Amino acid sequence: MSNSPTKIQLIQPDDWHLHIRDGEVMKDVLADTARQFARAIIMPNLKPPVTTVDLAKAYQERIQANLNALGVTSFTPLMTLYLTDNTSVDEVHKAKAAGIVGFKLYPAGATTNSDAGVSDLKHCHAALEAMQAVGMPLLVHGEVTHADIDIFDREAVFIDAVLEPLRKKLPELKIVFEHITTKQAAHYVRDAVTGGKNTIAATITPQHLLMNRNAIFAGGIRPHNYCLPVLKREEHRVALLEAATSGNSRFFLGTDSAPHAKGAKEAACGCAGCYSAFNALGLYAEAFESVGKLDKLEGFASFFGSDFYTLPRNSKTVTLVKQPQSIPAQLPLGDTTIVPLRAGETIAWSLV
Ligand code: NCD
Ligand code: ZN
Repeated sequence: MSNSPTKIQLIQPDDWHLHIRDGEVMKDVLADTARQFARAIIMPNLKPPVTTVDLAKAYQERIQANLNALGVTSFTPLMTLYLTDNTSVDEVHKAKAAGIVGFKLYPAGATTNSDAGVSDLKHCHAALEAMQAVGMPLLVHGEVTHADIDIFDREAVFIDAVLEPLRKKLPELKIVFEHITTKQAAHYVRDAVTGGKNTIAATITPQHLLMNRNAIFAGGIRPHNYCLPVLKREEHRVALLEAATSGNSRFFLGTDSAPHAKGAKEAACGCAGCYSAFNALGLYAEAFESVGKLDKLEGFASFFGSDFYTLPRNSKTVTLVKQPQSIPAQLPLGDTTIVPLRAGETIAWSLV
């Protein structure tokens, strides 16, 4: 493939990190994702969180009802459970038997709806050991939460304080370092020694490939560019883009699209989360094209995630064309509205 094409065809991608919420808003956000992706890993940070197989099954049924109402037959939600200090070994075994694809570690207080998260990983040792034994991945929100650690350092500190000790203790546990934002995380995942086993990977969002932290403060405060982990300096964006476009199968697509109503973002204490699902593939294409690496998009978007999760690759294809598309200023979200990433701007790539 030439590296300046105007049309690219790829095996249909999956989104390995997605928030679709619940109730009224779920249908609107599901429609955007299902237009582009065959499958998505559904994050469990509802209120209350999805901590058991029974809760996940009920959530999956609500998702399916919305897909039915939309007339979508070609999209599969992949369910996760929210790890807590009290997650039992029995729940891990039940999860494995039920086809749950992973447990999500939210350090308590790290992000949206993480109050019920893990206070200290030492409480989870038995559950984590069981996960290692049955091959159940741990999906981590990789930030420490101490108020005395600078918000821009929380991910880098997490690597030394939590991730590396955890991998020493449980070297065969499959870990996905979610939505990485720093050079330290990209290099840690790239260089991790695994003895040839698929035990570590990372997802990367479109916003962290396309923007640095200046975007949060461009001409005034920009709440729609605020997410967690927060955007970092340009050197980190460059390192993430290099990792994503390197062809290294440890890095794959996870949008972390995280809808919050317009009013909840444009507020005195605005929520964290960018809504990228509207044209996530176009955003990724733009990022890959910026470094002349469109030929590496298919591996990142369509192969490496399913390989890591030992799920079959998709067989249908999708086509992206270099045809400018306007991103609306806002979109309906249940009975309210949402402002998508790059609202009111034009982006170069669209899905056919
Ligand atoms: C996510 C959300 O809103 O659920 N927010 C975010 O900024 N990414 C939670 C998360 O993934 O941290
Ligand atoms: Zn997330």
